[in-house]
Amino acid sequence: MDKPILLTSALPYANGPLHMGHMVEYIQTDIYSRFLKLIGKKSIYVCADDTHGTPIEVNATKQGKTPEEFIKHWFMKHTEEMKAYGIEHDSYYTTNSKENQHFTNLLFGRLKEKGLIYTKEIELMYCENDKRFLPDRYVKGICPKCGAKDQYGDNCEKCGATYTPVDLIESYCSICKEKPVRKMSEHYFFKLSSFSEKLKTYLSGNDRLQPEIKKQILNWIKEGLEDWCISRDAPYFGFKIPGEENKYFYVWLDAPVGYLASTANYFESVEKAEQCWNDSEVVHFIGKDIIYFHLLFWPAVLMGAGFKPADNVVVHGFLNINGEKMSKSRGTFFTAEDFRKISNTEFLRYYFAANLTHSMTDIDLNIDDFKARINNELVANIANFAYRTLSFTNKSFGSKLGKIRNSMILEEVKRKAELAKTAYLELDYRKALSAVLEISSIGNKYFQDNAPWAMIKENKDETLMVMTDCVNILKDLMIVLKPIMPNFVSEIETQLGLEALAWKDLDMKIENHEIRTAKIIIQKIEKIELSLPDKKEETEKEEGEAFAKLNLKVAKVIGVSEHYKADKLLLINIDLGKGETRQLVAGLRPFYEDPQVLVGKHIICVTNLEHANLRGEMSQGMLLAAETEDVKTVMVVEAPDSEPGSQVFIEGIEIGKETIKFDDFMKTGIYVHDSKIMYKGKQLQTDSEKISSKIKSGKVR
Ligand code: 2FM
Ligand code: ZN
Repeated sequence: MDKPILLTSALPYANGPLHMGHMVEYIQTDIYSRFLKLIGKKSIYVCADDTHGTPIEVNATKQGKTPEEFIKHWFMKHTEEMKAYGIEHDSYYTTNSKENQHFTNLLFGRLKEKGLIYTKEIELMYCENDKRFLPDRYVKGICPKCGAKDQYGDNCEKCGATYTPVDLIESYCSICKEKPVRKMSEHYFFKLSSFSEKLKTYLSGNDRLQPEIKKQILNWIKEGLEDWCISRDAPYFGFKIPGEENKYFYVWLDAPVGYLASTANYFESVEKAEQCWNDSEVVHFIGKDIIYFHLLFWPAVLMGAGFKPADNVVVHGFLNINGEKMSKSRGTFFTAEDFRKISNTEFLRYYFAANLTHSMTDIDLNIDDFKARINNELVANIANFAYRTLSFTNKSFGSKLGKIRNSMILEEVKRKAELAKTAYLELDYRKALSAVLEISSIGNKYFQDNAPWAMIKENKDETLMVMTDCVNILKDLMIVLKPIMPNFVSEIETQLGLEALAWKDLDMKIENHEIRTAKIIIQKIEKIELSLPDKKEETEKEEGEAFAKLNLKVAKVIGVSEHYKADKLLLINIDLGKGETRQLVAGLRPFYEDPQVLVGKHIICVTNLEHANLRGEMSQGMLLAAETEDVKTVMVVEAPDSEPGSQVFIEGIEIGKETIKFDDFMKTGIYVHDSKIMYKGKQLQTDSEKISSKIKSGKVR
């Protein structure tokens, strides 16, 4: 029996929206997966969110969320997007799972046993302010070669020079802008250097890999492989290294392990996943930016740990939009969500298929070409053939078919379908789609040449046979198109009055069958524009705006009493300086054993909040309180060294002038990190102090 096929797409980081570049890969893999299932092959398509690493931990903190909350949000967004584009995984999972931890530990343990892991002290950049080691991308400064400002610690985007963060001039931590220092730390290394020969054999012996990739990797091996650092210091979001308190596995170690973990999720068993991995044909789909990881590190780790490396790695190129690289600053950075607002998502599947071959060449999403292809090929050729065939049969024959008239033409269609099959198997979707279009053209020509609208006046019986031929051609056309446009085909299947079609149904004849009512499913694109507002500016404005709506001031608590109706609420009288006093109602009672300790404290009040009647008492503002993640402890935020009435602010952000609603406040997302009261990575302050809390991390409300 044929081996089952295990397909994977690269795991997207749970750190932002899916963009159009991601969709190239998911659509490419999904078409293949659907095709394999259609021809009756056992195949499993797995993927997952890539959830670990510094950026996720840092960004979660910036938003006042725990990493778990943060990755959950992106998981939901990602799965929603995948669904909208018809990407159908057998398992979509997360790398932050017990199965992934199991396999990561298993691989690491086996490598260690075999002496393929060692530890060594290395010098790294460290931010004393943030108390963390900084990955290269978190150190910025002036390029030592060309003098360009704000370049990352690994390479200069202006002149292309590569270097280490230590070489940067006037380097700074990209989180807090302070100057980092050098610091030693012990780390785990994987002996990649000892895999040169094994990797060479693996690559050379595999004739399915794209030749250009093989050449590139063999070149890297020739230049000499260096051992790979697989650990990171705390704070980090990831899996702790067994036996360590403060060290974690580097995200790129456990990310590809996510392929195995997602397979385990599919089988609900890690044992079955391991067996499936070694028994099936494993095919990774990836972009050309991550071949280093998938054709060096990952196969070496697998081989070292007694697992089989992938049987094939399919590498695609980058996506350009209107001939240019997607770029946030140029406003051509399209998220999958942006695009689905302006187009039917299956149009994109069609367009990518028309441009995908088994090569690494970049793909261009040219909007004029997109419109032309959809209108002239998909709508005018394919959809038009479907509609004219079905509607004519509805109208002239009460939807009832007769016998086939011309088997020759159906044979010709089958030959085209065979061509499409070979092309799909070779991942040459462009060729497969050409065959689809040829079938559709055969159908349209047959319809046109026989002119059933005229023929019916002369010979109704023969016309019925012509229409029966057309319906059979349409059925075959739908089978061949199905991996690319599953939803469109599913609707036509319904109109044909047929169950879900499979490839083998190319051999099925439909005669004396009743079809359903024809409906137009897709229409020509009238106007489509690929332009986005300058997102960068927009988000900056938004960021500024959220906090810029608030007017926060220091206030002194002058009296506290209990709310007569609500046992969780306290009435707090405050002095806002210059003789202004107010009453606040706050849900603090459960958190203060003796609420009188609040008297005399200098707290922070949102002064421009809409006044509210809370169970019969007026609340003329709101105080800031910090809470731990489990919300067991809540403490008022204090500014002990500031006078009542002092302005609380963040440098560079304006002070709110208008009255705001409670919701506006909740949207700002102020939080505590490392005991500092922060908003988007910046600490709140007054003229006399920076604001902190006894609570180390959590939300502020
Ligand atoms: O480059 C990326 O977006 C990574 N998240 C891909 C990981 S693929 C696999 F190794 F997990
Ligand atoms: Zn810092």
